[in-house]
Amino acid sequence: MQYIYQPAANNDAYTLLLLHGTGGDEKDLLPLAPVLAKDFHVLSLRGNVSEHGMPRFFRRLGMGIFDEEDVHFRTHEMVHFIRQLAAEKGFDSNKTVAAGYSNGANIAGAVLMLYPELLAGAVLFRPMQPLQGIEDPFDTSRQQPVFMSSGTQDGTVNAADTEAYATLLSASGFRVSAHHINTGHNLTQQDIDLAASWIKENF
Ligand code: MLT
Repeated sequence: MQYIYQPAANNDAYTLLLLHGTGGDEKDLLPLAPVLAKDFHVLSLRGNVSEHGMPRFFRRLGMGIFDEEDVHFRTHEMVHFIRQLAAEKGFDSNKTVAAGYSNGANIAGAVLMLYPELLAGAVLFRPMQPLQGIEDPFDTSRQQPVFMSSGTQDGTVNAADTEAYATLLSASGFRVSAHHINTGHNLTQQDIDLAASWIKENF
């Protein structure tokens, strides 16, 4: 995968895993890193799927209709990549906190569902539930914190579905903190401020 890695001064630091939205790349969210988590290692990835030239983390069949087989494949591929890079660079993959926007939030959510013990936490900006019919329960024993922020005027994401997704994550053992911002699918300063305080409180 294409990536940017910026090590922190302290080797034992957490790693902030940045995951962009559709049409973005690994440079997009980098300016947020010092605002969200000043002393973390930073790993920013580019999605391996191209939708008419726009990078994404997994294929979709239509707006909000995900190719779940590809969600599985790309999630395994990304986790494998993160573990390999962690071994190479010397960071602890279990001390990784994901921060994803839109499609990036959705692949982070897929990691929570398929590898529930891996991440130390996740910030999900404008998330949608990435997998519907997973057969095995994806309970976590770590009870990691998960931050979610949705736009109350978001035309892309159905509010009731996001509510159900938050309930599912809570039922699986994650400590969900859900926020509703008076805006659309776009990311706002309020999202960033709330997420930065949440990271400060939790890590
Ligand atoms: C997706 O994963 O497709 C999103 O939530 C919507 C988008 O990325 O535009």
